[in-house]
Amino acid sequence: MCGIVAYVGKEMAEPILIDGLARLEYRGYDSAGLSLAGKNGIVTVKSQGRLQQLKERVGQLDSEDRFCGIAHTRWASHGKPSDANAHPHYTEKVSLVHNGIIENYLDLKNFAQNNNYDFLSETDTETVAKLLDYFYQGNPFSAIKKVIEKIEGSYALAILFADRPKEIYGIRKDSPLIIGLGQTGNWLASDLTAILPYTKQYILLEENEIVQIQENEVKIYSLEREMKEKKVQQMNWSLEEAQKNHFPHFMLKEIFDQPTALKNTLFPRLRKNQIDFRQDGLPENFFLPFKKIFFVACGTAMHAGNIGKFLIESFSRIPTEVDFASEFRYRNPILKQDDLMIFISQSGETADTLAALRLAKSKGICTLAIVNAVNSSIAREADYLLMTHAGPEIAVASTKAFSTQLILLFILALHLAQQKQAMTKDEVSLAVSSLKNSIVDIEGILNRKEEVQQIVQKLDLLHTEHLFFIGRGLDYLVGLEASLKLKEISYIHSEAYAAGELKHGTIALIEEGSIVVAIATDENILAKTISNIKEVVARGAKIFLVIAEGMEVEDSLLEYCFVLPKTEKTLSPFLSTVVFQLFAYYAAMERGCDVDKPKNLAKSVTIE
Ligand code: M6R
Repeated sequence: MCGIVAYVGKEMAEPILIDGLARLEYRGYDSAGLSLAGKNGIVTVKSQGRLQQLKERVGQLDSEDRFCGIAHTRWASHGKPSDANAHPHYTEKVSLVHNGIIENYLDLKNFAQNNNYDFLSETDTETVAKLLDYFYQGNPFSAIKKVIEKIEGSYALAILFADRPKEIYGIRKDSPLIIGLGQTGNWLASDLTAILPYTKQYILLEENEIVQIQENEVKIYSLEREMKEKKVQQMNWSLEEAQKNHFPHFMLKEIFDQPTALKNTLFPRLRKNQIDFRQDGLPENFFLPFKKIFFVACGTAMHAGNIGKFLIESFSRIPTEVDFASEFRYRNPILKQDDLMIFISQSGETADTLAALRLAKSKGICTLAIVNAVNSSIAREADYLLMTHAGPEIAVASTKAFSTQLILLFILALHLAQQKQAMTKDEVSLAVSSLKNSIVDIEGILNRKEEVQQIVQKLDLLHTEHLFFIGRGLDYLVGLEASLKLKEISYIHSEAYAAGELKHGTIALIEEGSIVVAIATDENILAKTISNIKEVVARGAKIFLVIAEGMEVEDSLLEYCFVLPKTEKTLSPFLSTVVFQLFAYYAAMERGCDVDKPKNLAKSVTIE
């Protein structure tokens, strides 16, 4: 995820900015850059790759002393990692860095091009720089206000104006920006970690506020140019606490990162509510020739593949198979030249998935990777690549990587269906609107986290050794992932069963007090699932039921129940998954487990 640091003060800006960027490295990045303002104007240096490369380039600058600058680490969304796409983006008059996504950047780009601006990058951010240049007539406030009236999306912006080399401006919406107040100067940053060694005093910038920082002064205004009084806060965090952004564990932080991660993954692929993978380098009608799809992955990523299969087969009736990567290679799979193989991996380094990818390539099969880690082996070796923009996932248990895999698979399935003429443009647009609504629903579920915590306590998971998940269709597939999540961090043994399958053997294990988590979000098969629930209740099971709003279920089954917002059937995994991530998290907490670093597990499994 991108990072911002900006400084103006008595000290030379460049080493402070480079140090700030180094402190933001934990967020992940693929390129970095900075702009420094001095008496001869603004100089900008950018580089793809690690900070060391940026430092070497900065070292080649002339020797002018510069005390004011903005800097950025970029995690690619619009446009590949490259020098040109790295921030800052600039014109003769302005330079800026940006976190977030400008959703209407194509319209803005047209506007700028019609006003004779040329573009050097593929980014959404460059349109903001061009727009600001267009509106800037010597008054930063009115130019910034005009720009934000035009842009849609999320942003934290730090801005330099060439004719004002001793001040920096900032503004934000849906993306954080803090103001650091130091002895030697003042800062803007996306994250407290960037300024931790320099100052403990900071102000949170709110939406619709414009901040101007100078060496000795910080002024915050409303958009109407009224000066605002703001509370100065004192930070008492260690570096690790700051990285967790006040959450007790990385896993909980990453669960809460999901709405942003989902938007970051979705919005760069939308154009007027239609899906567009051209930025990712997929040719027009890419999916048209393929007659069969394979998903190959491990663990949670394989569970995402299961849901991908369900969606593709529902939307376009293209036969799809899912394999554990570790099994795929050794089962002598039947592969044809008109197959598409999709490899899903958070780390992009999982040995079995990588080996399966190499096998597919050796047979001349077209390969597409869905990966979160930039420049990982799978990302580099696949023929085509779709990045999930979850940002770095630090907790061993995968959460936001999974949900961003789901959102990519959802739009991939829609796009495929449209190319195969199984869905119309209007149907896709409607589905995309519903998808956007489910991100809002996820925010609502996160706000109800205490409900899940109470259920965990009431069910007494502290003393539970075995548990079953049951569901049908997509609910069963969500159960598989829910069960893995619970096992890996709380060490409760659990199994997920297709609800109708339990009675073919496993029901023998149900006894008085057994806990069965039943997922029933599909109205059409509710009655069938309820019958299966009753089979286990009759044998003494306690039920934790997850249903959707509006479903009629008899009171006796509702003692432990979480009601999801009503949504389309195919979108329910986005919502129910979040409940089970919280369920696993609170179960692990109850049992005093090391949530972020469960025993016997590694974040990236690079052995077969
Ligand atoms: O990095 P990958 O997505 O390829 O990793 C695959 C699995 O090892 C991973 O999903 C694992 O199951 C996680 N611990 C699940 O939380």
